[in-house]
Amino acid sequence: MDVRLAAWREVSGKTIDFYPGSLTDGAVVDAVVQAVKPDAIVHFAEQRSAPYSMIDRQHAVYTQTNNVVGTLNLLYAMKAHAPHGHLIKLGTMGEYGTPNIDIEEGFITITHNGRTDTLPYPKQAGSFYHLSKVHDSHNIMFACRIWGISSTDLNQGVVYGSGTDESELDDRLATRFDYDDVFGTALNRFCVEAAVGHPITVYGEGGQTRGFLNIRDTVRCVELAANTPPAPGEYRVFNQFTEQFSVGDLAAMVLEEGQRLGLSTSLQRLANPRVEKETHYYNAKHSALLQLGLQPHLLSRAVITRLIETTLRFRGRVNLDLLAPRINWRAVRSPVQIWRQPGLDEAVGAPLEPAGVTR
Ligand SMILES: NC(=O)c1ccc[n+]([C@@H]2O[C@H](COP(=O)([O-])OP(=O)(O)OC[C@H]3O[C@@H](n4cnc5c(N)ncnc54)[C@H](O)[C@@H]3O)[C@@H](O)[C@H]2O)c1
Repeated sequence: MDVRLAAWREVSGKTIDFYPGSLTDGAVVDAVVQAVKPDAIVHFAEQRSAPYSMIDRQHAVYTQTNNVVGTLNLLYAMKAHAPHGHLIKLGTMGEYGTPNIDIEEGFITITHNGRTDTLPYPKQAGSFYHLSKVHDSHNIMFACRIWGISSTDLNQGVVYGSGTDESELDDRLATRFDYDDVFGTALNRFCVEAAVGHPITVYGEGGQTRGFLNIRDTVRCVELAANTPPAPGEYRVFNQFTEQFSVGDLAAMVLEEGQRLGLSTSLQRLANPRVEKETHYYNAKHSALLQLGLQPHLLSRAVITRLIETTLRFRGRVNLDLLAPRINWRAVRSPVQIWRQPGLDEAVGAPLEPAGVTR
């Protein structure tokens, strides 16, 4: 972090203060919010992998404890020290699941037995990670209602891309680029597979449709939310994505682009390790951020080429063992050892197994 902060100071002339600590430590969060008294807090800090949360009990408990407790600590710190601040929270489109009706932006108006109300849109999350975001949303909405805090819950789609104008100013500011089965997102993985001559791995039928956005638009959406805060006590939800694609659509685009670049690419269908609908209706609204002025960077050939070319530059570093899925939603325990973190079991109250036990 020291290197990144120094690099940013060098290239931008601007300073970012860094306070190391975990959001799960309420005293730390309280002290930072008290010292800074921020107008806006952008909350990115969560365990954000669905497969990771589905490894086993410990990882599910870790994910939900880390995410839900962290957000709750932040809400209490805001209540005490920044009650007029604006919480901009990274949620996920995965909170909604894949209902057979249009997905609205956070709320839906329902008429039931002759009476009408506008209610939170039903949530049907697909992993314990996505459920942690649902629980966060409920806690945030409740805090806005009882304490008058204001918040924007950004229900974000799947992010792709490898940099922004700012991060590209210096190699030391490079973003992480995950392509593995646990933390990688689909398009990043497909581009890496194309670059290294590995078949593009599609889970199941490939009809799973989701909202996607370029990492450049992620940053712009956060800025737009910050510049136009909600009213005191208001809890608003923006669906933060710019385009919908099925996994099969993305794979086909990468296949075509890889072939155009002269790479030997092919498609491979794998049994789906997740429990999810593989062909389904999907139509999610996403007009609020456009109305605030978002000008989307849509997925083009040029974007895919750039991702593939970036990977080709670092091809020697790609670990092929990380491409195939290893975490199965149905398995009681997954046969992976590598994701065990020292201290994780103690943190969630289970004894560590002796080294070498196959799980
Ligand atoms: N990347 C995506 O496609 C995507 C899609 C939808 C939503 N999101 C959400 O956006 C946010 C950022 O995601 P990202 O892809 O940049 O993830 P990331 O893993 O790169 O960044 C998350 C950061 O939070 C930190 N963190 C986690 N728990 C913490 C804690 N208790 N205290 C302090 N720091 C903590 C991690 O160390 C990490 O640096 C997450 O909330 C994620 O759920 C991401």
